[in-house]
Amino acid sequence: MKYLDQNLINRLDEKLTRLNALRPLPKSAVEKLREQLRIEMTYNSNAIEGNSLTLKETFLVINEGLTVKGKPLKDHLEAKDHYSALSYLYELTEDGKKNTFSEYLIKQIHTIILQETDKDWAGRYRNSNVIIGGADHTPPDALEVPILMQDLITWISKEKRHMHVVELAALVHHKFVHIHPFFDGNGRTSRLLMNLILMQAGFPLSIVLKNDRKKYYRVLAQADKEKYEPFVRFIAQTVECSLDLYLKTLTPTNKKREKYMKLADIAKDTPYSAKYLNLLSRQGKLEAHKEGRDWVTTKEAVHRYMDSRERQRDVE
Ligand SMILES: Nc1ncnc2c1ncn2[C@@H]1O[C@H](COP(=O)(O)OP(=O)(O)O)[C@@H](O)[C@H]1O
Ligand SMILES: [Mg+2]
Repeated sequence: MKYLDQNLINRLDEKLTRLNALRPLPKSAVEKLREQLRIEMTYNSNAIEGNSLTLKETFLVINEGLTVKGKPLKDHLEAKDHYSALSYLYELTEDGKKNTFSEYLIKQIHTIILQETDKDWAGRYRNSNVIIGGADHTPPDALEVPILMQDLITWISKEKRHMHVVELAALVHHKFVHIHPFFDGNGRTSRLLMNLILMQAGFPLSIVLKNDRKKYYRVLAQADKEKYEPFVRFIAQTVECSLDLYLKTLTPTNKKREKYMKLADIAKDTPYSAKYLNLLSRQGKLEAHKEGRDWVTTKEAVHRYMDSRERQRDVE
C-alpha cells in the first residue's frame, strides 16, 4: 500500500464488502447495470482516443445496429470491437473464474480491439518505434518490447500477492502504456486489462471518462516520472464511482440510501465551503465522484470525513 491513501483503501474495501453482502445480486438489475457500464465504457474509452461517436450513437450502433450518417465507418467498427472485447472480459471472469496473466491473454484482448479496423497488426507487437501524441514520454525501442512484456508478466505475478488490487490494476495500466507494445490500441487494451484485474476481485467496470482526458494524461505523465500517487488515486476514484453506482442501484429500498448532491448544496449544511469540499474530493479524502462536470457527495460522507479527522486528531 505504497501509493494509495489508507482512507481511500478502507472506503473501497468497505464498499466492496457491502456490495458482496448483497449477493446473490438481483439478476435483472445487475444485467441492466452491466449493460449501462458496458456502453458507457465503450463510448468513453473510444472517445478518449478520438472516436467521434457520442454516447447515444454508441448505444444505437451496438443495440440497433444503426449506422450514423456522417460518421466514419472506422468509428462504428471500433465501437463494435470494444463491445466485443468487454464480452470477452465477462466470459473470462464469469462465475468468479481467475485467469493467469500472460502475453497470450493480452494479445487476445488486443486482437479483439483491432479485429475490424487493423487486422494486420491485431495481436502483434510493433516492429518499429512510436511516439504518443500529446505526451513527452517516448516509449522504448521496438526491439525491447518482447522482453519488457515478459518482465511485466513476471512483475504482476510477483506483486499481486502483496499489493492492493486497485493499486495493482492502476500500476499495470501505467506500465503497459509506458511500454506501448502495439502500434495502436494501447490505451484501450490497457484500460481493459486494468478492468480484468478489478473484475476478478469482484469490482464492477470502472471507467476513465472522456471528460477527464486532460487530467488522465496529466497524471499518466506524472507516473512516467515515477510519481505514481496521482495516477493511482485517479484510478481509485473511477473504481469508487462504479461501486457507488452499484450500491445506489442495488441496495434494497428498505435500507437507507444516501443522497448524492452537488458540493454547493451540501456545503450549506457543513462547516466547509464548496471550494474546500472540491479540494477534498479531488484529493480522494472525501467520498465523492463526478456526475458530468460536477462533483457530488452526500451529507453522511461529509460527516464520516469529519469523524475521521476527529479520530486522526485523537491519535496525534
Ligand atoms: N505520458 C504518457 N505515458 C504513458 N502513456 C500515455 C501517456 N499519455 C497517454 N498515454 C496512453 O497512450 C494511450 C494512447 O495510445 P494508443 O496506442 O493510441 O491507444 P488507442 O489506440 O487505444 O488510443 C492513451 O490512452 C493513454 O493510455
Ligand atoms: Mg490510437
